[in-house]
Amino acid sequence: MKLFIDSANVADIKKAYKVGVLSGVTTNPSLVAKEGVKFEDRIEEILKLVPKVESVSAEVTPDAITAEEMIAQAEELIKINNYDKNITIKLPMTLDGLEACRYLADKGIKTNVTLIFTVNQALLAARAGATYVSPFLGRLDDISEDGVQLVVKIAELFRIHNLDAQIIAASVRHPDHVTRVAMAGAHIATVPFSIIEQISKHPLTDQGLEKFAADWKKAVKS
Ligand code: G3P
Repeated sequence: MKLFIDSANVADIKKAYKVGVLSGVTTNPSLVAKEGVKFEDRIEEILKLVPKVESVSAEVTPDAITAEEMIAQAEELIKINNYDKNITIKLPMTLDGLEACRYLADKGIKTNVTLIFTVNQALLAARAGATYVSPFLGRLDDISEDGVQLVVKIAELFRIHNLDAQIIAASVRHPDHVTRVAMAGAHIATVPFSIIEQISKHPLTDQGLEKFAADWKKAVKS
């Protein structure tokens, strides 16, 4: 399973990219709004920060409701990256979003259909030519449903029917989500930097390092 960072924060994206584990970046209107910067400027900045990743998702803004409005925004967004391949247009899971997805997919532009909460929505997005589909686990857990089970089912559906859309497990809230969606067959998990940090750690790793350091110090002294 590949790892994307779910962030519009430059410092966090830089840190994750430096570690060398990043295959992509996802953003959304809430994440960009939190930064208090102009949307297009931040997307441009991110694209420059992570030249070697497969995808940087830039979402159409919430005021784009019709497929035409979404496509018009997408056409501006792809210019930011000089029509390069790693910009991905993120679209909402609505009929207009699907229509825009099909249009952009037919033009060879990568798409990510977001706010997926059912297997049927994932099926529709895949059939509309989405490069990526983004089920939101944490938000299903929030309403007492099992977000990971949704990923299990979508992965099975895509396998059975040879659908080549990639699953981005999103709204990932803790390390156990990461392990479980990886084992379920998600192609990608998009996570905040805090989760990358968390999953790098184990108390026995820290204890082991302390012991190595102490033994080393003793040996050097003697
Ligand atoms: O990737 C989607 C994510 O940004 C939403 O996460 O925690 O707001 O449900 P959350």
